[in-house]
Amino acid sequence: MTEKSFAFFQGNIVPLEDANINIMNHSFMYGTAVFEGIRGYWNAEQEELYLFRLREHFERMADSAKIMYLTTKYSVDELCKITVDLVKKNAPRTDTYIRPAAYKTAHRVGPSLENNPSDICIFTVPFGDYFHGSPGLKVSVSNWRRVEDNAIPARAKIVGAYANTALAKTDALMAGFDDCIVLSENGHVSEGSAMNVFMVKNGKLITTPSTENILEGVTRSTILTMAEQEFGLKAISRQIDRSELYIADELFFCGTGAQIAPIIEVDKRPIGTGSIGPISNMVKDKYIQVCRGEIPEYHHWLTPVYARKDNSVATKR
Ligand SMILES: Cc1ncc(COP(=O)(O)O)c(C=O)c1O
Repeated sequence: MTEKSFAFFQGNIVPLEDANINIMNHSFMYGTAVFEGIRGYWNAEQEELYLFRLREHFERMADSAKIMYLTTKYSVDELCKITVDLVKKNAPRTDTYIRPAAYKTAHRVGPSLENNPSDICIFTVPFGDYFHGSPGLKVSVSNWRRVEDNAIPARAKIVGAYANTALAKTDALMAGFDDCIVLSENGHVSEGSAMNVFMVKNGKLITTPSTENILEGVTRSTILTMAEQEFGLKAISRQIDRSELYIADELFFCGTGAQIAPIIEVDKRPIGTGSIGPISNMVKDKYIQVCRGEIPEYHHWLTPVYARKDNSVATKR
């Protein structure tokens, strides 16, 4: 990364220190912004930074924006291009995290989303592992419930909803756990604090359905897509009971930040043998290889930052 960091703010790439929002800003006061988290993977051998599933992240941001009456003048294609231009300007030669947000810009008191203009901002930071410490996570089932679709829709990545995440994650950490699994109001498993969850049972990959108040993760969909052809495993999404977690053969979190994070204990009960299982390890290794551009078959999910000559972006297959 060059010494000075740049951000996309109010339509321009500007020094990060100049990308500031007024304290009367609507999204700051009411959480009325939506955001994404995107990873760039540095491939040292190829001297390339690969942005993973860039388009899918901006498509999800467009869906989140729609739910929150956020309108922007940029298309998904334009946002992909702006992101690549910004990352190029920051010129990182290391793993990188990209945080775009669409936000309400009104300076006024009152929560309404109407007659309230929107804008986009993007910043990038160097980013390594999300979880530090031992590779197998010890988690709790949170006593906080996931926000319901009819309260704050979890399928939209709404800034205000992350107060729910913050409470769940903080209490898990303060109780000595690495993270937590959150249930829906109905008592079924929803997801992790900021990641989706997969259970391995009898050689099958099972994850919670999109109707269980989850953010429909790009990583979750990546694993569902790769499951059969890459891992030779049947993958399904269905409701999961809390007690099924305790007797799973393996469990792991997945998400852009968390990547693939195996879980070895839930509520003090060992999962499987109490150490990282072979399927979790296989998924984790393959996922990172795909993200880093080591498997040509999955290059359609990658946007290379430095080799781009034609401003094209990865297209979905
Ligand atoms: C609440 C929540 N669930 C799931 C995920 C995983 O989504 P993705 O794989 O798209 O990063 C995230 C991370 O963005 C999240 O914040």
